[in-house]
Amino acid sequence: MKNLDFQQFIGSFSFDGRLAEADIAGSIAHVQMLVKCKIIKQSEGGKIVSGLHSILNSLKKGWKLPKEEDIHFAIEKELIRRIGSVGGKMHTARSRNDQVATDLRIYVRQKTDECIDLINEFQRIILKKAESNIDVIMSGFTHLQPAQPVSAAHHLLAYAWMLERDKERLSDCRKRANVLPLGSAALAGTSFKIDRHFAAKLLDFDSVCENSMDGVSDRDFAIEFVFCMSMIALHLTKFCEEIILWMNPEFSYVTIADKFTSGSSIMPQKRNPDCAEVIRGKSGRIFGDLIAMLTIVKSLPLAYNRDLQEDKPPVFDAVDNVKMCLEVMNEMISTLKFAKENALKSTEKGFMEATEIADYLARKNVPFREAHGVVGKIVLYCKEKSKTLGKLTLDEFNRFYPEKYPIFGSDIYKYIDLKHIADMKTSYGGTSRKSVLKQISVLKSILK
Ligand code: ARG
Repeated sequence: MKNLDFQQFIGSFSFDGRLAEADIAGSIAHVQMLVKCKIIKQSEGGKIVSGLHSILNSLKKGWKLPKEEDIHFAIEKELIRRIGSVGGKMHTARSRNDQVATDLRIYVRQKTDECIDLINEFQRIILKKAESNIDVIMSGFTHLQPAQPVSAAHHLLAYAWMLERDKERLSDCRKRANVLPLGSAALAGTSFKIDRHFAAKLLDFDSVCENSMDGVSDRDFAIEFVFCMSMIALHLTKFCEEIILWMNPEFSYVTIADKFTSGSSIMPQKRNPDCAEVIRGKSGRIFGDLIAMLTIVKSLPLAYNRDLQEDKPPVFDAVDNVKMCLEVMNEMISTLKFAKENALKSTEKGFMEATEIADYLARKNVPFREAHGVVGKIVLYCKEKSKTLGKLTLDEFNRFYPEKYPIFGSDIYKYIDLKHIADMKTSYGGTSRKSVLKQISVLKSILK
């Protein structure tokens, strides 16, 4: 271990560079607060603030800070290099402990907003797809076995609601992230007469943390944020899994643009759904980030411990990957096309009219449980004779319920028309055209 760089080992400079902007914003507010509270002179504050701005400008032009233990030291040392020893006054009444906690909150807050924007875009794309595919009927599954026909629009919209909840979770997480720890100093507060609420106002925080020890060690907001990332990733895996299934020739419900697929190095016929697979796979590392966060923070005594430095890579990794997945997903589903005929044809397999026949009997006063048994026998009969339910004669239907002969009338065929079964599900939130249009209007008003 001769060549091990201990400064690098104990520091975070190799991964916390992206906090520079948040760090500078936090420092500017802190310095303005110090001036307002007459802890440093106005002229000193002015020099520090313009020095910080010049560092920010250099960074924006691609200039790199010289290596230090972490981003906080790097910026402070550079400031002193640029404006002289007065730069050393910036750290009055502050510690890196409340500083880094502040930076991470600013960062999480910003990333929360970016994720919400991407989800809004996702939902708008789903809405558009739903509107244009409202008349596409396809197999709905439970246990991945044929269950009942549903409209493709209804199926797609389910994902808009999942991500609506993700947005709510993010907004809620943002509230807890938006509490300012700055002014907690190392752990105990400070004897300088600072004004924490003033700094909070400058930085757009809703409030300040009430307990300085909690302030420097609380990473709940970051864990919550990575949980939000995990939940989004989880929802995307479900959607990707379905796209992968739907593209399989056994289904052939959909196609997506070629650029989201790849070929095989050996099998010339292949179009593999790689993008959907990669999104599905990314969830693994994102869930890993959540476990890392929980494990880093667990059992830590108050207040700050250097273990907390390890919180940043999982936060960065989770949000980078979720944003990428959302971006790819948004582009990919914009190109999603349903094969209407294939989708409808798929409903002919698996006796998906069965519930309608049981409902038909129930409407004629047969207890549903009894009707269920009768239709079970009809389905068995169809399997034996290799027939579909729609092809049975009235006589065949009636044979199965001799007790109330002839309970089946010719109207049964109307009830089991696969094209129309979905449209009869007019209950609120159901898959009928009418219910789906209602759902679309609710979602539209949310997205306004
Ligand atoms: N680089 C550290 C982190 O990310 C900053 C805080 C260091 N504080 C300390 N007392 N050593 O957590």
